[in-house]
Amino acid sequence: MVSKVVYGKPVKTDAITAEVREAKKAGKFVVSEDEKSISFRYTLGAGDVVYGLGETMGKVNKRGGRYISFNTDTADHTDSNPSLYASHNFLVVDGAETFGAFFDTPARVIFEIDFHGSGEIRVVCETKHLNLYQIENESAYGVCRELISAIGRCYLPPLWAFGYGQSRFGYVTERDFRDVADGYARNGIPLDYICMDIDYMDRYRDFSFNGKNFPSIGDFVAEMRGRGVRLVPIVDAGIKVEPGDPVYEEGVKGGFFCRNKEGGFFKAGVWPGLTHFPDFMDPGAREWFGRQYKFYTDAGFEGFWNDMNEPAIFYSEYTKGPKNSFYQLALDIFLGKRRRNKKERELIRDYKSFFHNMDGKMVRHYDVHNLFGGMMTRATSEGLERLLDHRFMLFSRSSYIGASRYGGVWTGDNSSCWEHLMLNVRHMPSLNMCGFLYSGADTGGFGGNCSRELLLRWLAFSAFTPLMRNHTGKFTQNQEAYRFGDPDAFRKIIGLRYRLLPYIYSEYMKAALRSDMYIKPVEFVYPEAKGIEDQLLVGESLMIAPVVTEGATRRRVFVPEDMTRVRYNGEFRCEPVLKGAYDVDVALDEVVFFIRHGKLLPVGRAIMNTSEYDVSDLTLLGDGESYELYTDDGLTRDCTLENIRTLRK
Ligand code: GLC
Repeated sequence: MVSKVVYGKPVKTDAITAEVREAKKAGKFVVSEDEKSISFRYTLGAGDVVYGLGETMGKVNKRGGRYISFNTDTADHTDSNPSLYASHNFLVVDGAETFGAFFDTPARVIFEIDFHGSGEIRVVCETKHLNLYQIENESAYGVCRELISAIGRCYLPPLWAFGYGQSRFGYVTERDFRDVADGYARNGIPLDYICMDIDYMDRYRDFSFNGKNFPSIGDFVAEMRGRGVRLVPIVDAGIKVEPGDPVYEEGVKGGFFCRNKEGGFFKAGVWPGLTHFPDFMDPGAREWFGRQYKFYTDAGFEGFWNDMNEPAIFYSEYTKGPKNSFYQLALDIFLGKRRRNKKERELIRDYKSFFHNMDGKMVRHYDVHNLFGGMMTRATSEGLERLLDHRFMLFSRSSYIGASRYGGVWTGDNSSCWEHLMLNVRHMPSLNMCGFLYSGADTGGFGGNCSRELLLRWLAFSAFTPLMRNHTGKFTQNQEAYRFGDPDAFRKIIGLRYRLLPYIYSEYMKAALRSDMYIKPVEFVYPEAKGIEDQLLVGESLMIAPVVTEGATRRRVFVPEDMTRVRYNGEFRCEPVLKGAYDVDVALDEVVFFIRHGKLLPVGRAIMNTSEYDVSDLTLLGDGESYELYTDDGLTRDCTLENIRTLRK
């Protein structure tokens, strides 16, 4: 059961859409207030597990950590960094008592969870205004499901968004994109989309193309589409200050940008140089911004990634910017040369010096900061709903709880290292707990150079995440799957994703339509697996145990009940295994996973992209009797549970 306690006059975040009973007191917490904040404390039992917080550092069990909800553009994905790109203020306590709490405020929130062995949860909300949602249920899983259903229906991507995609910061010309499509086709590796990073633009302006590199963009989109490859452009939060540019002029005329203290439009330096931020808190500005995507949909685009929407600020009108060399500054930040705390101080100063128009009232950005990215997703999504008569792909870097109704998320600028593969494994269940089903990381890592081994192991994990995109940064080595010598192993592992698509798509859609999680911790279903974070349940039928250690050719797997072990290296080989713990061999060109007892896994034949998707000829693996297959045309909006049919063995 969900109830809420209202403190002060909370900002309307729209995170929760369900009608919720109001309670007088925060039953589970000891509450204290001072002039500027409200704090909540809860004494933990020794064996209590604390889940939640979505996209944060740390483990799936958040005990022992300190985390700060303050959306930040940061490539420092280490445990000493308390803030990543998103704020998901939801905790689940599971132990002596089982309950959930969602601290619904876009202000800065500090979570200390058994930090320094304090034995308690301490949450400090740096505001006097918030809705505290409390959820009571018998199980942690049940608590999460209640939150997800209170949020409202999750974003539903088209089928092709579950295909495999390639991306890189550094593709510039049509030729670069053709080469990638050719490379995949030549090597017989499936591919559904290629992302276009900021270099497609004219001087990094949103809603523009570099005319020299893309003389006829509509024709190019159609050409690639004819080859089964969709193009997915990036859109950044800031609009370049450029008198004469129609988008800029319209934004100024309509007053759709955030204001500075003096009442002018706030200027922030990002990739294009100085920009104005659309006021995503204002419905009129959201409508206007969403409308701009017509520029892309007219050219045939059907998918987008929204970036820099924490919002990222390299410098501003208040913090000293470079004279000419913005690019150098961007690089310095990228390479971590600027001291982090200096940057943080400057950012906070900037965030305190611009304003949103909320119902006619000027609200300081700093006080609603964590909502900005999610509201950009909302603006885009609502715009695309109006522009297109079918589903679209959309994922964002920054988010707040509730944004899952509008689009997916990716987890930002990770690095090509084994720790970040494991971080990806931890993020997926935590994001799902907060309702973000369509999610994934930069497979292979964004920063640094990826080895053949790391990419293969990472792909073998990403093969199960809804968003499966290989992305890398500007100055890294090539990371396309055909660049690492013999492509056979890549063909097999990415090929596996496509053979599993009938299951992945079906499980995703059922989870989204039933307010369920798509990926969950194994212990949500098998309590004996408590503490095992490197195995996950994917959908109703599968348990995965990815290899996340360099040099390993086998790994320990806990099988919590009798299951079917599936070994895939071009063919599916199934073998029953009894409950127990095993060392399982996993060669570099293999994926090993498990089908739960009494369940089935439908697999399709090998295809090169989702245009060949076919559920008329599925093979059912496992020892179950029937499987509920969700199937539709993969594109139109007619998605209901009526699209489920039962397959029998
Ligand atoms: C940001 C994004 C990254 C992108 C880059 C250039 O760092 O997180 O994915 O490649 O900007 O647009």
